[in-house]
Parts: sequence; structure tokens; C-alpha cells
Amino acid sequence: MTPEFFPAESSIPASARIPDFLEQREYLIAGELRRWEGDMNPVVSPVWVHDGKGLVQKTIGSTPLLTSKESLQALDAAVAAYDLGHGAWPRMTVIERIEHVERFLVRMKEQRSLVVNLLMWEIGKPQKDSEKEFDRTCDYILDTIRALKELDRNSARFIEEQGIMGQIRRVPLGVALCMGPYNYPLNETFTTLFPALIMGNTVVFKPAKYGVLLIRPLLEAFRDSFPPGVINIIYGRGRETVGALMETGKLDVFAFIGTNKGANDLKKLHPKPHRLKAILGLDAKNPAIVLPDADLDNAVNECVTGTLSFNGQRCTALKILFVHRSIVDEFQKRFLIAISKLKAGMPWEPGVSLTPLPEPGKTDYLKGLVDDALAQGARILNAGGGEVNRSYFNPTVLYPANSKMRIYHEEQFGPVIPIVPFDTDEEPVTYVLNSNFGQQVSLFGKDSRRMARFIDDFSNQVGRINLNTQCQRGPDSFPFNGRKDSAEGTLSVADALRVFSIRTIVAAKTTNENKQLVGKILRNRESTFLSTDYIF
Ligand code: G3H
Repeated sequence: MTPEFFPAESSIPASARIPDFLEQREYLIAGELRRWEGDMNPVVSPVWVHDGKGLVQKTIGSTPLLTSKESLQALDAAVAAYDLGHGAWPRMTVIERIEHVERFLVRMKEQRSLVVNLLMWEIGKPQKDSEKEFDRTCDYILDTIRALKELDRNSARFIEEQGIMGQIRRVPLGVALCMGPYNYPLNETFTTLFPALIMGNTVVFKPAKYGVLLIRPLLEAFRDSFPPGVINIIYGRGRETVGALMETGKLDVFAFIGTNKGANDLKKLHPKPHRLKAILGLDAKNPAIVLPDADLDNAVNECVTGTLSFNGQRCTALKILFVHRSIVDEFQKRFLIAISKLKAGMPWEPGVSLTPLPEPGKTDYLKGLVDDALAQGARILNAGGGEVNRSYFNPTVLYPANSKMRIYHEEQFGPVIPIVPFDTDEEPVTYVLNSNFGQQVSLFGKDSRRMARFIDDFSNQVGRINLNTQCQRGPDSFPFNGRKDSAEGTLSVADALRVFSIRTIVAAKTTNENKQLVGKILRNRESTFLSTDYIF
């Protein structure tokens, strides 16, 4: 691979450019954009550029390295805004909270092109996928509003059982900490942040490790759309900023998409573990199982996108392929042809699907996995496999992979694809049973009895079994969860509203006095909670 893989400064299209250096010193606490004068964290792009003298890795800006002092101020603001559940936000009607979120959404849409460009520059996500991430996030917020209206309509009626009448509504849990991952720094973060907010919780939000600057264009919209303290946005090193928050014991909810090690380390710091409700999306090692009668063209296409979209940096990516020995040669042949057609390049290049990786040291880690597999008897099947060019790692197909190799067990989160040949169906089943992860699995085949056996073998192991399709989170109305170390709680548009809230009931014996009392409260609209108002 030639150094020309990376662009000359002058060849970058105007539509993909961002301001020269985005120095972000602002952070949001208690409705104010405060200015940080302390140490800054450089934001280094995975994209290298020829600047006339040589190839340099672009530093595109910097973000504040706040300390525990500022993060605790953010927490205090969120605690004050919640005010033990008596704050204006948690007591607001659902329709009023929806209006705040709608206001934000209008402002967010105005920032689309800058946020999309920052997604490309900060994490190397191809333009089409970056646009999809932005639009999908806006749709998710709209769907959340719709789902909440539906939930509220269902709660507007009374139930009566065994001589007791009652009204059940969902109320917030308290103060939430929301943190998202670098691979979907906008989408996955907002799929917990907005359900948390709209249900009446107050929030401290810390953007992901990479994909940080792209929140900057939204700071004013957050400030202007929500009452002070409802949303607070901090930056800095996780352990220092977030660890301090956990140790206070004042957090009621921990929404985190990342590694299970990160989640374990942080959760342990909370002094009242049962008080902290956790919603976690963590590691996965989703296998594909390709059976002898599978439609091979379809299996190959799905396995290519499953393993390599966004360079395999999706928690739902296919991370190991079990292919029946009777078809493994033909599968490999077609798989390698399909991979050779993928275009590598810069995120803004039309038709590109393979791009540089944002994590420093990632190519060394992947090379370590490949070297280990080679030492254990695997071969690299594809031309260019194992090649590294600075932050870019060429897709690498390893065969035959086996249980002695690290790649068999570790979540590579990158473009290394181990193929394991198998003879009996027990082999991939045993793999899933013994795995520490349990997010999803993909099955490719036609024989209904054999497929059904796999489905039953896996139904208590993973959250989703995909038939003749790659693993994925969407559609967002479907439940997204995992077993074992892969997740805690279930997310979907509707489920997210549930996990960030709890039911409270007002109940009374159905006596005439109580009916009159409740009737009066309703007629005179004396309570926000006890109300039959219907949202249209
Ligand atoms: O990184 C994990 C994401 O939830 C995957 O979502 O399947 O839509 O790419 P996706």
C-alpha cells in the first residue's frame, strides 16, 4: 500500500472540510456554557494528510480536560435540577417535556453537515454512514416522542380490580450519567440520553473518547432547549471525571455503552449498588454459522457487511465465521472476491467502505492478533491481508482459526476475520455456550429442522438470532440486549422509556367518597400526576 493512500491537503473536497482547528473550551453546567482555561486534550484524526513537506496526522482540535471539581459541579447542577423529584423538570407534564425535546431537534438538524463532517474526521466513518448515523438519531428522537405519547395515552385511564381503583404512571428515576461509545458517538449516546431526559431524569453526559468535538455544535441547542441543570455536559478523562461522580453515590442511573471492563470498574465505585440502575451495552463476539445448504451468495454478502461495515467497529459486527467444512472452500473463494471489491480510502470518497481507524495503537493490537493466529497455524487468505499503513489496517482473513488463538476469543472490533471450519453442529453451539458474551448470532441455511434446532439451542444464549442475515441493532423498535457480559437491560425505542423510569400507582378502594375525591382532583386538574388528560 502506497503512502498516496492518504490525501494531499488540497485534494480534500470543500464539502468535507472542517474549520482548521476547533479549539473547544466550553462545557455545559447549570444552563451556562462555561469556559475552561486549564489543560486541553488534542483531538487527533485517524486521517493523515500530505501537507507539502510530508505525511502528518491531522490534529483537528482540542477539548477540555476537566477535573473532578468540574464534573462534581455538573453533578450538583443535575441534583439541584432534579431536587429530590420536586424540580420543575421531573414534575413537568409529558407534553411540556416533549416540547423541549422538539425544540432541541429543530436546532440539531441545523447542524447536520458539520456533525457529519466531524464524524468523518474524528472517527473515520464513511460519509454515507455518517449521514445515516445523524438521520437515524433524529428519527430515533422523533420515534421516542411518539412512543412516549402512546405510553402516556395508555396511562391516562384508570384500572379497577378487586374493589381497588388505580392510576399507574411512569416517573423518572433521578439523576442519570450517560456515556456512549466512539463507534456511534452520536447515535448510541443519544439513544440513552433522550429517553433519560424525556422521562424527567436530569443528566450528566460525557461524550465518548473519540467523536467528542461533534457534540460541540449542539452545545448551544442543549443550553437553550432545556431548563438549567437538566442536561450537563462534561469532558475529560473517564476515571477522574466519572469516577468522582460514581463515588458520591448521588447517581441513580448509569447508562453506558462501552466495554464490560469499563462498566465494571465504574459500577464498583458506587457506594450503594442497589440504588444504581444500570443500562449497559457492552462487548460481543457474534458468530455467523454457515451451513452446507446456505445460499452462498447471500451468506457471503451478509458476512462481508457483517464483518466489515465501519471496519468491523460495531458491537453487533460478525466477529467470527463458522463455515461448514463441506463448503468452506467455495465460501472462501466468493468471500475473498467480495472483499477485494471493497474500496479503501478517505471517509468522504464516494463508494468507500474501508477507512482508517481512530484508536491509537489499534493497528498494533490487530497485528498482534494476526501474528498470534499465524503462529498457531492460520494463514492469511487475502491479498494485502495484514498490511498496515499508519492508522489504516487492511482487512485480514485468517484460516483455519481455532480455539488456541486469541482471535477466537477476543473481540477484535476491527477488520480481522477469523474463519473456523466445522464438521458437527455441536462445535459452533459449544462455542456460543462457553462464550462470555451473548449478544447475537447469525445462521445461514435452508433446512428448517436444522435451523430450528439451532434456534432452540441459542434462544437462551443470545438476545437475537438472525436467519440468513447479518447481526444488527435495527430496526430501533426491536429490543436490543444481550446475555452474560454483553449487556444489562434492554433498549428499543419503547423499552428505553421503561428502563429510565419506574411505575408509581395512585390507588384507592372504590368507595363513593374516594370516587368523589378522585373525580374532583381530575375535574379541577389539581394534580399533574393524577390526571386523565389525553395527548393528541
Ligand atoms: O455498536 C453497536 C451498535 O449498536 C450497532 O448498531 O447494528 O445498527 O450497526 P448497528
